[in-house]
Amino acid sequence: MDENYSLPNNVAIITLQAIEDPQYSVIAKVELRKVFGKRTIKELAETNLSANQKKSEKKKLNWRVIENSKSDPIPLKGGPVDSQALAVELGPMEIRTFLLKF
Ligand SMILES: *[C@@H]1O[C@H](CO)[C@@H](O)[C@H](O)[C@H]1NC(C)=O
Ligand SMILES: *[C@@H]1O[C@H](CO)[C@@H](O)[C@H](O)[C@H]1NC(C)=O
Repeated sequence: MDENYSLPNNVAIITLQAIEDPQYSVIAKVELRKVFGKRTIKELAETNLSANQKKSEKKKLNWRVIENSKSDPIPLKGGPVDSQALAVELGPMEIRTFLLKF
């Protein structure tokens, strides 16, 4: 903290932790065939988080976005799922939802 600064009396910092980790802040890969080893995945569709809109339908909301400054890091995100390999990539802190048919 700045040497001449102090928090207001009614404010406290309870936890402070770095969320970037050299080992875990990377793309992770999940092999769905191995997760569901005893079942055959016949269909996979990625949806939004509440699972009521398929990503492929692309009914995206249009947000007015204020451009990031050049120094803002671009968040790592997993790419589209290859329908043959069925391996899902996850970026750090990324949450993805899929509907599977067995
Ligand atoms: C903190 O305050 C002192 C006294 O006013 C001043 O000399 C010093 O430069 C200040 N430090 C910072 C980092 O502003
Ligand atoms: C998913 O999409 C549906 C349909 O457009 C929408 O109503 C719902 O709010 C979306 N859920 C999330 C978590 O974005």
